[in-house]
Amino acid sequence: MPENILIAIAWPYANAEIHVGNITGSHLPGDITARYHRLKGNKVLMVSGTDSHGTPVTIRADAEGKSVEEVYKFFHHSFLDVFQGYGITYDLFTSTHTENHFKVSQTIFLALRENGYLYTEIRPQWYSPAAGKFLPDRYVEGVCYLCGFTGARSDQCDQCGNVLEPEKLINPHSKIDNSTPELRETEHYFLDLSKLEVKVAEFLRARKSYWRETVSGQSLGQIESDGLKPRPITRDLDWGIPVPVQGWEHKCIYVWFEAVIGYLSAAIEWGQVSGSGEAWREWWINPAAKSFYFIGKDNIFFHAAWWPAQLMGAGSTFMKLFAGDEVPLTLPYDVPANQFMNLENAKISGSRNWAVWGRDALTRYDPDALRYYLTVNMPEAKDSDWTWEEFVAHNNNELVATWGNLANRVLSFAFKHWDGHVPPVEVTMLRPADLSLLAVIDDGFNTVSGYYKTVKIREALREALRLATEVNRYLDIHAPWTAIKTDRDSAALTIYTALKAIDSLKVLFAPVLPFSSEKLHTFFGYEIPLFGEQYTQSLTDSLGEHTALRYKPAQPNLPNQWLPSQLQPGQTLLQPAPLFKKLDEKIVVPEEKARLGQ
Ligand code: MF3
Ligand code: ZN
Repeated sequence: MPENILIAIAWPYANAEIHVGNITGSHLPGDITARYHRLKGNKVLMVSGTDSHGTPVTIRADAEGKSVEEVYKFFHHSFLDVFQGYGITYDLFTSTHTENHFKVSQTIFLALRENGYLYTEIRPQWYSPAAGKFLPDRYVEGVCYLCGFTGARSDQCDQCGNVLEPEKLINPHSKIDNSTPELRETEHYFLDLSKLEVKVAEFLRARKSYWRETVSGQSLGQIESDGLKPRPITRDLDWGIPVPVQGWEHKCIYVWFEAVIGYLSAAIEWGQVSGSGEAWREWWINPAAKSFYFIGKDNIFFHAAWWPAQLMGAGSTFMKLFAGDEVPLTLPYDVPANQFMNLENAKISGSRNWAVWGRDALTRYDPDALRYYLTVNMPEAKDSDWTWEEFVAHNNNELVATWGNLANRVLSFAFKHWDGHVPPVEVTMLRPADLSLLAVIDDGFNTVSGYYKTVKIREALREALRLATEVNRYLDIHAPWTAIKTDRDSAALTIYTALKAIDSLKVLFAPVLPFSSEKLHTFFGYEIPLFGEQYTQSLTDSLGEHTALRYKPAQPNLPNQWLPSQLQPGQTLLQPAPLFKKLDEKIVVPEEKARLGQ
């Protein structure tokens, strides 16, 4: 029975370009996992979108003197390009600025209210008489009342690292015009997370045995030491989703409250735009469906505690209000959050241009070369570091030398000596050494599968590479290049065996290296591709136009492709070509390093 797998990936804020840290942090591991499950014949739905609201976006717009809408659209379109370039195959990459997302978010809000998890409270908030509006916490800076740091944000001090109570900030001034704000009272809705604390802790304990230690440790640890406290979920802002309560329409729903709801609303929107109607229920109203949330470590609390709390608190009331039937929504199955990737031993920083930008890197390197290094070096258990020396070394010594050359050498040799065909051997003639190599490779489908399935992606790739090394060793011993001159039958058996092994390895590598595996797949003469195609689609609703990234499978119901090679003796091959490019360390490293921090 195919499983329903929801791949939910953190929604990037529309305030900065995507860099390699973002790609290896969430989008790439999500895509690799999605592609693995698609090859297995499982039913995958992979969604995300642009996080278009919130102060990170309005601050950027203010700084550039542009409208928020303009800024959000600019980055949204850039994201679509980058994800297409890297082959991040979203079934739907949409935006939080859609009519559908507004409606779904407002309905979750109302369901929580109906179930008694919301209350209102009046609080003091910094107000700018000069601008005539309340200022978001991030807009107010001043002196930290804990450590005396003069550049503290009202909600957080970057020097002592403490979360601050905004109204206690000393010498506050507005980031917009440097004017002095004053405290005024304002009313907000609060989500009473304390009422859900026991349920959330239970939810986390039930998953502790298979979650990453970094994730369950941080989320459960925080609940056990501090408990879950009520949090305000509305803001005095004019860019965002209006609070769906009479008299409150001029206030907005807090960006984190609604952004996580995007995982649900995007699935619903996917149903609408793909003509699949209510199919989204297979992932969202199905206790057997597995949902994986790919995020960076800074997002753990919101996905491991806050989002499950929203889902549990809204319960079946959401569905009652939204669709008419009272059924609960599926809770997260796993939150395989990654740590961070640094760059040349320093934190990636957009403002200092200490970054490898996703879009820019694609102008000089192939997506699979980048995906390869971003996987080998994925910060799964601890922070990792991108260095250009290592990028070149992994590319040349592993991707090119161990895997690419193996495939190219064997395919070219077969193509040349057997006139464009797989050697027409009698399979009953295969020797013990041939059979034992194939048995080792076949077994890889179990071991590598075990790693992909549990999101140990580095291990999966390492194991596939180890198997490629086995094939190289086998070829060294049987040396078909010399055998061909004296014993053509023996060379044929060796080349047939190696081709079969490579045809299998192509599948094991495919989730990480989709572009080159697909190419290799065609060299073998197969007609149905491994994967489908990405494209953009323009969608319009009452909020205007938004372009979405989509994915179309190669065939409506692809069979299980996660299987050892079925290559037939005599099968027609296509003219092969090298899969990867060797890089010149002497050129790449100094050139790339010179770009940093400029
Ligand atoms: N925009 C947030 C960030 O970049 C992530 C939001 S993930 C979501 O940190 F699920 F909440 F959308
Ligand atoms: Zn401080």
